[in-house]
Amino acid sequence: MQNQRKITGVASISSMRITAIVPAAGRGRRLGSSVPKQFIEIDGKPILIHGLQTLDGVEEVGEIIISAQASEINTIRKLVRDFHIKKVLDVVEGGEERIQSVRNAFNRIGSTDYVLIHDSVRPFITKGIIKDVLMSGISYGAAISAIPVTDTVKFADNNGIIVKNINRSGLWLAQTPQVFTYNILAEAYKMYDTRRVDVTDESGLVELLGVKVRTVAGSIFNIKITREEDLVLAQLIAGMP
Ligand code: C5P
Repeated sequence: MQNQRKITGVASISSMRITAIVPAAGRGRRLGSSVPKQFIEIDGKPILIHGLQTLDGVEEVGEIIISAQASEINTIRKLVRDFHIKKVLDVVEGGEERIQSVRNAFNRIGSTDYVLIHDSVRPFITKGIIKDVLMSGISYGAAISAIPVTDTVKFADNNGIIVKNINRSGLWLAQTPQVFTYNILAEAYKMYDTRRVDVTDESGLVELLGVKVRTVAGSIFNIKITREEDLVLAQLIAGMP
């Protein structure tokens, strides 16, 4: 496959066109809040604005496309203006599943070399991690930020009874950003059209193509705000020196 060899030298990162996609069309049902989680404020600004500001400040990122629920497109457009996020090309309608939301944004791309996908509900992404994943994505074609599993992992049945232990060595928790060449993602969506697969991130699709996806060290602070407790953690992380 294309990315089993090094595609290009890392020094040429500045000559690459990089489009960031931020899926923000989730309804956040697990949080139990009436406000979708990407709009809840942490440290004086909506969760989604934190990540957008960081992406906006990464010079290699040329444009940002956001996907949102139809009823929230205008709200997001206004937030983007109010917080002076400069690189947003468009806010498009998302889909029922995250994969579809990202794909709708992907379809809005005119022309680019690399696509970086970052969840709207991971506010604590850093420029350093974004650049590390970009470097690896540009060098190898496909890379994601991830952290190794440190807890003991058990598999339980529907009654919560442990069925087996899973060896944690080699297990990773996938995060975002995730970076792929435009062509690899396009091929992944083509495959998705012919064979509906059950994956929860774009890397899952790309792996099914047979492309080797590199893991890049993420951070335990790059949390995905999913449950109510995550908001407590988020306040603590936001207050860290
Ligand atoms: O639901 P989950 O926590 O996995 O969502 C991860 C990201 O995907 C969030 O930023 C969410 O807004 C987005 N998403 C989306 N469209 C969906 C479901 C989730 O853009 N249909």
